Amino acid sequence: MWNDERLLNRIEEFRADLRIQKMDEFIQHGRTTTLQHVIRVAALALWFNKVLRAGVNEDDLFLAAILHDYYLYDWHTFGDKLHGYHHPYIAAQNAARDFNASHAVQRMIETHMWPLNIRDIPRSRGAWILTLSDKVISTQETVAGLFVARNRLAEG
Ligand SMILES: [Fe+2]
Ligand SMILES: [Fe+2]
Repeated sequence: MWNDERLLNRIEEFRADLRIQKMDEFIQHGRTTTLQHVIRVAALALWFNKVLRAGVNEDDLFLAAILHDYYLYDWHTFGDKLHGYHHPYIAAQNAARDFNASHAVQRMIETHMWPLNIRDIPRSRGAWILTLSDKVISTQETVAGLFVARNRLAEG
């Protein structure tokens, strides 16, 4: 089982990758970049895996979490209003192309927006852990972003 050091090392390895660094150019929620977001999701997903004793392969879970939003465009300005629906499939394709993501990892990525993508239900423990972790972190980032906006208004 991964310890904290192993997790930090893996994060640093990915951070050094120029393709991964692209995610730092885009805002995900509030003031959080996509890269910051996926790292938080990865850390939480591995924590859930441990405390729930889910037994998901940690390499797979980590890769799926780091790449779950690897769609590589600014969703605020690019594309249609259906970003929420489409981006899991784009991210999964990019993950396969750039990081040789396995079918299992791709499926975790593809189902992470459930229940928005109502028919694409998570079908593995790893997929459930990923969708749950993403929702927890996204909510936290959105709420934090609202507080920042409110404080800015209050400061005038
Ligand atoms: Fe996403
Ligand atoms: Fe996400």
